[in-house]
Amino acid sequence: MSVPPPPEPITGARLLFSLDPAVSHLNHGSFGAVPIVAQRAQQRLRDEMEADPLRFFTQGLADRIAHTRRHLAGFLGADPDHTALTTNATTGAAVVLQSLGLRPGDEVLTTDHGYGAVDYSIDRECHRTGATHRVLRVPLTATAEQVVQIVRDGLRPGRTRLLVVDQLTSATARLFPVAAIVGVAGEHGVPVLVDAAHAPGMLPAPVRGIGADFWVGNLHKWGYAPRGTAVLAVAPRWRDRIEPLVVSWEQDSGFPARLEWQGTSDYTAWLSAPAGLYTLRSLGVDRVRAHNAALAAYGQRVVGDALGVPPADLPDPGGPTVAMRLIPLPAGLATTRDGARALQTRIAERLATQVAVMTWDGRGWLRLCGQVYNSPEEYQRLAVGLPGLLAQR
Ligand SMILES: Cc1ncc(COP(=O)(O)O)c(C=O)c1O
Repeated sequence: MSVPPPPEPITGARLLFSLDPAVSHLNHGSFGAVPIVAQRAQQRLRDEMEADPLRFFTQGLADRIAHTRRHLAGFLGADPDHTALTTNATTGAAVVLQSLGLRPGDEVLTTDHGYGAVDYSIDRECHRTGATHRVLRVPLTATAEQVVQIVRDGLRPGRTRLLVVDQLTSATARLFPVAAIVGVAGEHGVPVLVDAAHAPGMLPAPVRGIGADFWVGNLHKWGYAPRGTAVLAVAPRWRDRIEPLVVSWEQDSGFPARLEWQGTSDYTAWLSAPAGLYTLRSLGVDRVRAHNAALAAYGQRVVGDALGVPPADLPDPGGPTVAMRLIPLPAGLATTRDGARALQTRIAERLATQVAVMTWDGRGWLRLCGQVYNSPEEYQRLAVGLPGLLAQR
């Protein structure tokens, strides 16, 4: 079957980034890439901070943080009064977990599409408190209705103290019906943490209309912010019960200052996040989303064809703006985390191409992203080189 044409390129976009032109960067999802405009904005703030640290920290910093919070909340469709800046999704999830006051007999429920680091965090909090961590199995091909049904059947009201679901899963690049899941959990009185690490920038107003008790999203992936910029949105009933991981001077100031002020730290990433959004907006947010999703879909088909994967076996992420796509690897490859890492490194070194290699459900998967700085030729080159590389086990 012929591959549909790639989208029209966003001309000149690659020059907005500092990426090494000798490498194909097909894994924006893992650590993002910061546009030069946002790098410069952060450097200017660092220069200002170093010129007079006392003035930087004591005069106006709190207002600047509040201004940034409102700006980012507006972009995400979140209520700025119930939003706090944090460093990353991992930290936001840990803040929520340790604020719950879990007890022996309680459980935290997740799906097998969850992010490994967040799962470790849940395991530690459960171990510390005597609670248990239960994982629901959700087949990769489950429809949105089936996902909701699996969650509905899996809840144990009175016992399940938190359900953690990903808005867009990392290992399986799937959009989950989080609004419906939150609705079902709410009927049973179970709070939900939505891990939306990939949502800001990729999905329009990703907080609006979901009604989650907790929602955490990274701006430093698809929102082009400097790394260390994330947002934690909480429902009003939790606002005063959320505790920071690290207690500092603003402890008596309540939410969000007590979460945001983490002692002497570098707050310049947060303050330059609007410059990242400026880049996204100046390219056209909808245009970027449509381009990236179409390019990822194109890459999935080109590389999938090269590996002999029928189009019907290429997973569909479930949303028109999702710019991450999976391709199943030949059986026996990347079936463990170490194996996946080793293969990812081999692809980077031998093919000068950065991709994500994932292990999920006992098999290996290649995850390809689309970004404004990518071109169709990069996926075509991977399609040419990959079969030979995979054949040399
Ligand atoms: C679903 C999900 N949750 C959490 C994270 C962790 O993000 P961070 O490393 O920025 O804390 C990621 C990172 O890729 C992710 O994909």
